[in-house]
Formats: sequence, structure tokens, C-alpha cells
Amino acid sequence: MDKVSISQLGYVGHGVSNMTAWEDFAATLGIQDNGRDKDGAMFLKLDENHHRMIVHPNGNDDVSYIGWQVANEPQLKAMAQQLKSEGVEIMYGTPDEAKKRRVMGLIKMEDPNGIPTEIFYGPEVSYGNDFKSPAPANVSGWVTGVLGTGHAVITVTDYEKSLHFYQDLLGFRMSDIMMSRLQERGMGMAFFHCNPRHHSLAFMVTKPREGTPQYNMPQKKLNHIMLQMNTLDDVGAAYYRCQEKGVAFRMSLGRHGNDQMVSFYVITPSGWAIECGWGGRTVDDATWQVTTTADDPWGHVFNPQFPPITARVR
Ligand SMILES: [Fe+2]
Repeated sequence: MDKVSISQLGYVGHGVSNMTAWEDFAATLGIQDNGRDKDGAMFLKLDENHHRMIVHPNGNDDVSYIGWQVANEPQLKAMAQQLKSEGVEIMYGTPDEAKKRRVMGLIKMEDPNGIPTEIFYGPEVSYGNDFKSPAPANVSGWVTGVLGTGHAVITVTDYEKSLHFYQDLLGFRMSDIMMSRLQERGMGMAFFHCNPRHHSLAFMVTKPREGTPQYNMPQKKLNHIMLQMNTLDDVGAAYYRCQEKGVAFRMSLGRHGNDQMVSFYVITPSGWAIECGWGGRTVDDATWQVTTTADDPWGHVFNPQFPPITARVR
């Protein structure tokens, strides 16, 4: 079999210390609460999939695992083989673990940055039980399907090892890198796709320099998750709902220079951010060329005011 690649960002699981704040936060953005697991975890729904995020009330305000999807069981087996042959330690998920994630099968490992990583196939979907916006948000919907949940931006401690893991072993393709403005702050980013979404994964490569406003930003393993809304009106309305509710912003409304997404960033009750976007471009592997991109054309003004940081990981 040819080399196997991840097909999409399937789900993200994260721990939280304040479940009530998360319930309010999700409702403000217009994400559907799809009930609780036996252990109290909250399923968050964006589409026909049973969930796209799982919120665990375990007090750890950071990512618990990222679930990357492959097409089917043969691909999962081939992926397991691919990883093992390169010396990656993997564990096979038990039937109980698969049931808990509501998938048909999974393997588990750690990425080079210590992020628990799951690769799975066969998520539970239910057509006719599509996304329903919580009131009063009235969100028309989220762009998912074969493009997956959205994108995850992770804090990378070893760029070379991370590049090897995600690019060579999981099959991600680089979209572009962003250095100019970020480099002055001691930061750089690299963006990767696994389907036509411009990026499903990005690396936040280095730590902010002392003296920059970003220095005080909580350095979580998870920098942010992007969720793409169907319409610009969805984004605009969410922007104003967040302002009315006093949700802390990380960046104002703006357009990105690389994926061309119009978006804003709000800080979750766990200290990492969610980017709510619209209009992101797609890429075609047949013609795509990697570029180095510069500043955003407008907006995305960074907010140096952060909510109190209880647990700062550096
Ligand atoms: Fe983003």
C-alpha cells in the first residue's frame, strides 16, 4: 500500500477546571452542547458528527488529546505499521476506548511535543441529527465535512522532530510559513494541510521574547483551535455576542494573509484561544506551492490584556 496520510482533524479533547464557564462560552459562540458522557465530559457538536470537541472536567486547562482521522480500517493498520517502522511507540485503543470516543478503532501515541495523539477511523455520525444552534446565537452552521473540524495550532518545542512526525510520518503537506512580523517577537509559524482546507495543523514554533506583549500569553500545548462558520454574518454576530458577554479577545477581527480567513480570536475559559472564521481558502495539491507569507492585510490587532493566569506553562 502507498504511504498513508491523515485525512482530517477529527476531534479535540481538552481538560477544563470550570465546566460552567465552558458551557456559557460554547453557547456564546454558538456551539451545540450534545450532552454528557457518564464521567461528566461534555460533547460539543458542529455538524452531523456526534462531537467535534470533548470537554473533560479534569482541572487541566489544556489539550488532552487531538484525534486525527484516516479513511478506514486498512488505512489505520497501514498507519500503525508506518509509525512502528519509524520507531514511534504506539498503543492500540481498546474496544472500550473506541466506544468512549464513538469511533470504530484508534491507535494512540505522543507527538514530539508531548501532545497525546490519537489516529482513528469510523466516527459516529447521524444524518438528520445535524447541528442545531443554541439559542439565542442562531448560527447557520460550521464548515466541516471532508475539511474536518477546523485547525489546531500547537506549541512546538522541537521543530525538526515535529516536522518529521507530522510531515514524514502522518503525511501532512506544508502550506506556508510566516516569519516576518513574528520573527521580531521571537516567534514563527508553519502551516500544514491534509485535505483542501489551507491548514488543519500549524506549529507555533518558538517562545515569545521577553518585552513583547505576547511574552505574558499563557504558553499552553494548544495555542488555538479554529472553527469555520458558514457565513460572514455568523462571524460578525458571534463577534458582537462575545463583546456583549465580556468574553476576552486575543485578537480583533481581521483577515489572515495566508489562508485569507476573516476571523477573530477569543480566549477560552482554559486560557487558550478559539478562532472563529469565515471564508478560508482551500488548496489543491496538484498546483500548490509553498510560500513565506508576511503580515495580515488588515485587523487581527493583538490584545495585550490577558485574564488572570492561574497555571502558566513555559
Ligand atoms: Fe488560526
